[in-house]
Amino acid sequence: MGASNYEKFKTDGSLAGNVLEWVDARFPLTASWKAHLSEYYAPKNFNFWYFFGSLALLVLVLQIVTGIFLTMHYKPDASLNASGVPVAFAAVEYIMRDVPWGWLIRYMHSTGASAFFIVVYLHMYRGLIYGSYRKPRELIWVFGVLIFLALMAEAFMGYLLPWGQMSYWGAQVIVNLFGAIPLIGEPLSIWIRGDFVVGDATLNRFFSFHVIAVPFVLVGLVAAHILALHEVGSNNPDGVEIKKKKDEKGIPLDGIPFHPYYTVKDIVGVVVFLAVFSIILFFMPEGGGYFLEYNNFIPADPLVTPPHIAPVWYFTPYYSLLRAITYPLFGIDAKFWGVVAMGAGVVIFAFLPWLDRSPSKSIRYRGPIFKGFLAVWLVCFFILGYLGVLAPTPGRTLVSQICTFIYFAFFLLMPIYTKLDKCQPEPDRVTFK
Ligand code: HEM
Repeated sequence: MGASNYEKFKTDGSLAGNVLEWVDARFPLTASWKAHLSEYYAPKNFNFWYFFGSLALLVLVLQIVTGIFLTMHYKPDASLNASGVPVAFAAVEYIMRDVPWGWLIRYMHSTGASAFFIVVYLHMYRGLIYGSYRKPRELIWVFGVLIFLALMAEAFMGYLLPWGQMSYWGAQVIVNLFGAIPLIGEPLSIWIRGDFVVGDATLNRFFSFHVIAVPFVLVGLVAAHILALHEVGSNNPDGVEIKKKKDEKGIPLDGIPFHPYYTVKDIVGVVVFLAVFSIILFFMPEGGGYFLEYNNFIPADPLVTPPHIAPVWYFTPYYSLLRAITYPLFGIDAKFWGVVAMGAGVVIFAFLPWLDRSPSKSIRYRGPIFKGFLAVWLVCFFILGYLGVLAPTPGRTLVSQICTFIYFAFFLLMPIYTKLDKCQPEPDRVTFK
């Protein structure tokens, strides 16, 4: 609706028009609709890569809604029931077998976790290739990295809840890592678990964090992410700042209203996503043991350690960074430096806006050094992810050490090679390729 059409609608005497006028006098409904949708101008050259922000929003909503229904039937209780099965494990089996449509809700949530990471990884990769983290979008990016950290915490704590063997031993391994921190490590890991080993207290607090605390943080961060985006406007595949060229009414020459143009485009993405998601959900909800590990269909047993403990696929690149560090340094255990490498592997993304000194934002106009390094880095990221699933051998450890080196070199050498790189000039106006 054009601006004057809103005014006409509100004064046309219809009930809906009167209601809108009443609301608008008390709440900025039309104003917000205009500011964020119908008069929010987005670059007209968005491509495939721009689907994943709205898809991430969709998956967030799906996870929250399915999570609410799971919470109605789930019980965070590690004690054994009359059949000798942990109550939490039995509650998930009850949801799968006895709750009407419970299997669907549970699989939507567990497969949804993997879908979330796929969508968010693609969304982050878009940021990398188009330089969307660069000025003036540094805060959008930093909020994004915080979202990513919160998402990892959310997924990690959610995985403990079914109280299967992998839930239990995965949590045991990861919480024990805090024990590697000098001096405070041991008391810290006991404080996190609430016990000397992962137990009922751990299950209860992880449940509380998974269901209330972290989702709150996530939703708040996503709101901040989008508010920051709408303050500065979207980047695009050309890296052109559309606000620099406006018509006499102040509308960017290369901009189109988000609604209806991109709402319609995003619906196409949603339909394709839901089709693919449904196929996976109905035909391979466990993703061949990658989305739900087979060992997690065995109730947690603190007396039987599984021979091979591996995290879910979305954590494996960072798990490889952890395992790649095998030498002690400054008299401190290798495990500590592994934890540092794992944490740094995620946090280093936040520094990208200040590490990248290239004159152009988009990969379309960047030079061969950045393009080549990004390609090699991506290959290393996949290799690290693959090796993180497997049990370590001396050969695999060597490969992951090489990949770890390249992983960090990509970021740390960026201020140097982005300055040396021969870029092409960015165009003044957006292009269509
Ligand atoms: C729950 C997770 C997330 C949600 C719901 C979300 C949502 C969105 C939405 C709706 C957009 C605008 C549409 C688009 O550009 O695709 C966007 C843009 C953006 N997001 Fe996210 N996001 C999430 C996570 C992340 C993460 C983890 C990062 C990076 C670490 C990130 C970085 C960005 C950047 C840089 C933009 C601006 C892109 C551009 O203008 O080219 N986001 N996000």
